[in-house]
Order: sequence, then structure tokens, then C-alpha cells
Amino acid sequence: MNKIGIITSGGDAPGMNAAIRAITKTAMHYDIHPIGIKDGYDGLMNGYFVNLEYTDVNNIIQRGGTILGSARSPEFKLKEQRKKAIKNIQKEGIEGLIVIGGDGSFTGALKFAKEANIPVIGIPGTIDNDLYGTESTIGYDTALNTIVSSIDNIRDTASSHQRIFFVEVMGRDSGFLALNSAIASGAESVLIPETITTIESLAEEIRTQSKGRRSSIIIVAEGEKSGGAVDIMRQVQPHLSEYELRATILGHIQRGGSPTYFDRSLATRSGIKAVELLREGVTQKMVGIKADELTLVHLKDAVDKHSIPNLKKEDILKKLLTKG
Ligand code: ADP
Ligand code: F6P
Repeated sequence: MNKIGIITSGGDAPGMNAAIRAITKTAMHYDIHPIGIKDGYDGLMNGYFVNLEYTDVNNIIQRGGTILGSARSPEFKLKEQRKKAIKNIQKEGIEGLIVIGGDGSFTGALKFAKEANIPVIGIPGTIDNDLYGTESTIGYDTALNTIVSSIDNIRDTASSHQRIFFVEVMGRDSGFLALNSAIASGAESVLIPETITTIESLAEEIRTQSKGRRSSIIIVAEGEKSGGAVDIMRQVQPHLSEYELRATILGHIQRGGSPTYFDRSLATRSGIKAVELLREGVTQKMVGIKADELTLVHLKDAVDKHSIPNLKKEDILKKLLTKG
């Protein structure tokens, strides 16, 4: 293999740059030419390729976002558009692809691998942590730390004013970010898409928990079926008229920032592994992590099988909230 392409696709995630750096350096170590494909699948369809050198990946390990750019590229779902992409990689002489992204990106990668008959390896890069077959995706740990630190700030003002805050966090259809940030921030309750919470039971829980407290934090996953933080606050308000309620949507602040040690390390190890796999002739696999060991998962399983948070962790919250 002489030339490989690197793509970052879908929602960006802190640690993507660390993965690009590791892939570039490892490829050059093996005399493979690394090609950066700009702006996700847009770059593949439009032939927007850049040669990557050692100097391009200096001082990027600590930077959030992705130096290659990323995109939501709906046209890539069309076979005709993917044909353009096939012509572009053939013209460029790219013989293998590493796609860093989430489940949408891997769905596209699988189709492309088959249609272009090119080996493809996936590296999970999404703050949502919603891919089957890995305990963590690149960016998830950093996003969790950002959320926890933001909630600490909200707690200061919530306590000063004796308010109940509904804080909406990202995660698309998945409750990983919500559940784990709730545990780590000492939240009073959490609503996630994987469980059902009625407005009446939530109001009751908040009333019980709020007695003797100056503040309460309720984390709402953006995928929660009863609505986002603002909706939930409005629905609960009539049941809690004696309290002052506020809602905060953390938004894209959760996707930026310098990656944590964990995400840099995971991205670096996964990047090295992905190049080695391509050299060994492996294809259509995702590099995951379990118990600190890198593992391989078929890309099809990674996107088809659903990953849900450890719901027993909800019990942890309940135990912490029990008043003795
Ligand atoms: P993520 O990879 O973070 O889940 P998206 O869901 O936006 O992000 O997917 C990223 C890109 O992957 C899409 O913009 C599209 O180009 C491609 N993609 C997603 N689903 C498909 C599909 N069914 N077929 C082909 N390409 C797809
Ligand atoms: O997949 C990452 C993610 O940040 C989700 O948590 C969120 O639902 C979505 O992307 C937001 O996408 P966009 O930045 O395109 O609005």
C-alpha cells in the first residue's frame, strides 16, 4: 500500500486531530503517503485532497476540532455522488481509507468500501459514545468534562438564588453524556431516552429532593422523548409553582476544546492501529477499546447494533439522593 486517505466526518470531536497526527506519522514511518481529505465526504466527492507532511501535524495533538474539516454531506447518500468519489480516489491513487466519525459516517464508509472495492478502517470519533463495540469514542471523555465543569458553574448561581435548573446536554438519541455527567456533577435527577420518566413522577422527585437544598440540577438528554430542557421545565412548572425554575442548553460548547489525556491517548493508539490494519489487509473494521485493550468490531455491527448506557448507574444516582 502506497497511499492512504484520512477523512473526518459528521460532528467533529475533540481528539480527531490527535488521530490525524498518529495516522500521518505512522503512515510515513511505513513509507505510506498520507492524503488528507477535506471536509468529510464533501472532499471525497469533490476531490479536495491535500498531501500531509510531518509539519502539518505538529502541535495539533492539543487542539479541538479537526484540521481537515468535517461536514454533514447528505449528497453522499446518493449512489451517483459516490461514483464521483470513486473516480476521485482512483485518479489520486488512494488504496485505503481511514474514516474518523460516528455511525452515519460508518454507514457511508461501508457502502463506499463495497462500491469502490477499497479497504476501509473506522475510528470512532463522536462525543455521543453511541457506537456498539467500544467503551469509549474519541471526544466523549472531553465532552463529559466540559459538561461537568459547566454544571459546576451553573450550580454556583443556582445555589445563590435557590433555583432549580434544567440543563440540556447533547448525545443525539443516546443518554451516555447525560447519565454520566449527572453522576459526576452530583445532579438531583436525569432524563435519558433509554428510560421513561413521567412529568408527574419527575415533579414528585424534584419536590422530595429539593427540601432542604438551595439548588437542584436536572440533566435532560437532548434525545429525551418528553422534550428538551425548556419543554420539560414548562411541563413541570405547574406542579412546582413554589419554586423558581430555569433552563440552560449547553449546545456546541460541548463539542469544542482541548482534548483530555484520555481522548488524546485513545486517538493516538487507534490511529496507529488503523494504519497497521490497512497494511495487514484488514477492511471494514472499527477500532474499539475494551478494558484498555484495542479491539476490532465489524463496521456493520458498530452501526447496526445499538449501544446503551449502563442503566444500573441510574441506581447510583438514586442512592446518592437518599436522605439519611
Ligand atoms: P456521524 O458520523 O457523526 O453519525 P452523520 O450522521 O451526519 O454524522 O453522518 C456523517 C455523514 O455520513 C453524512 O453526512 C453522510 O455523508 C454520511 N452518511 C450517513 N448516512 C449515510 C447513508 N445511509 N449512506 C451513505 N452515507 C451516509
Ligand atoms: O453527533 C454529535 C452531535 O453533537 C450530537 O450530540 C448532536 O445531536 C449533533 O451532533 C448536532 O449536530 P450539528 O452540529 O450538525 O447541529
